[in-house]
Amino acid sequence: MSKTMIKSKLPNIGTTIFSVMSALANEHKAVNLSQGFPDFPIDDRLKSYIGEALDQNQVQYAPMPGRLDLREAISKKVKQQHGIAVNPNTEITITAGATQAIYTAITAIINEGDEVILFDPAYDCYDPTIRVNKGILIHLKLKHPTYHINWEEVREKVTAKTKLIITNNPHNPCGSVWTEDDIKSLEELVQAHPELMVLSDEVYEHIQYNNEHQSVLKSSILRERSFITYSFGKTMHVTGWKLGYCIAPESFTAEFRKIHQYMVFCANNTMQYAAAKYLNAGEFWREVMPMYQQKKDLFMEQIKMSRFKPLTCSGTYFCLLDYSEISTLPDVDFAKELTIKYGVAAIPVSVFYQDQTDHKVIRICFAKQNETLIKAAELLCKI
Ligand SMILES: Cc1ncc(COP(=O)(O)O)c(C=O)c1O
Repeated sequence: MSKTMIKSKLPNIGTTIFSVMSALANEHKAVNLSQGFPDFPIDDRLKSYIGEALDQNQVQYAPMPGRLDLREAISKKVKQQHGIAVNPNTEITITAGATQAIYTAITAIINEGDEVILFDPAYDCYDPTIRVNKGILIHLKLKHPTYHINWEEVREKVTAKTKLIITNNPHNPCGSVWTEDDIKSLEELVQAHPELMVLSDEVYEHIQYNNEHQSVLKSSILRERSFITYSFGKTMHVTGWKLGYCIAPESFTAEFRKIHQYMVFCANNTMQYAAAKYLNAGEFWREVMPMYQQKKDLFMEQIKMSRFKPLTCSGTYFCLLDYSEISTLPDVDFAKELTIKYGVAAIPVSVFYQDQTDHKVIRICFAKQNETLIKAAELLCKI
């Protein structure tokens, strides 16, 4: 009865592959490299700040845009990182994870019929959020196997109705990163299209190997036109806190906060207190990349003798493994077989495409303890 009363805004959304693979991993006691979360303990200092927050009874609502001490700490960090001044009062809003920041930004600016460009494979929350807001989806594809943006194609697809382009750098699930040329291409694009805005998802800003992270924040042209989203879940290894933030120019932030205040009003105050203390205690975020570099190197070394071909991973804690020498199965079936028969759970990359493009690659997450990675690699080498 209740089913027929609701005209679903997302009629084709079922259980996500992340839940499916994790359930399968549990059932078959497989090593779970599917979902993207760390399995190691957090820094003791961060733990102690949670205790301190509770001792101080920091358990009531935070201010709507987020605690000022946290916004000021973020502003200080951006200055240390990029030498750029971001106003904590008017340009930073604390959110319940990057997911809420993305939902809020899209809801603030997309009206019925507005076109939004996004790139497949795409992180899973972009598409449904645009749908809910009645935007028109323009799915373009990153170029396999390097997974870079074809800017010429983008230029052809932008119309007078294109309101937003969503980018993700470093990229989940592909592990690709931007060069200065990508920044230049995006600058030229927004300059040619005065109505075009950018949603730059930079949650993996601190997990980039080899070269410097190309943030849109560093470009004065792009900064004026962008919402940039971040996640403490990724930088502090606390995905379950669902704490993040959005940096945007003052006029964008004003519209963003109109939605934010009626969505959640504010993010978790206790965790905001701890995050502010931790940010002010030192530049812990500089340690994130070397830690993941060690894990990536370890895993790559361990699977060298396997029949999987790792694709280049320049950022994030994910890497893609090409299994075309092992099996001709579609990637969803192969991922299930890998879990059930060989005891390792991974994510098939076709689920990140609107049209389920299958390049015979799976995504594994190496944000795991070294023993977990060694065990998984041993199993993969037996195939
Ligand atoms: C590319 C990307 N954007 C956003 C998010 C969401 O971040 P949060 O957990 O802070 O909502 C994730 C989480 O996996 C992600 O990989």
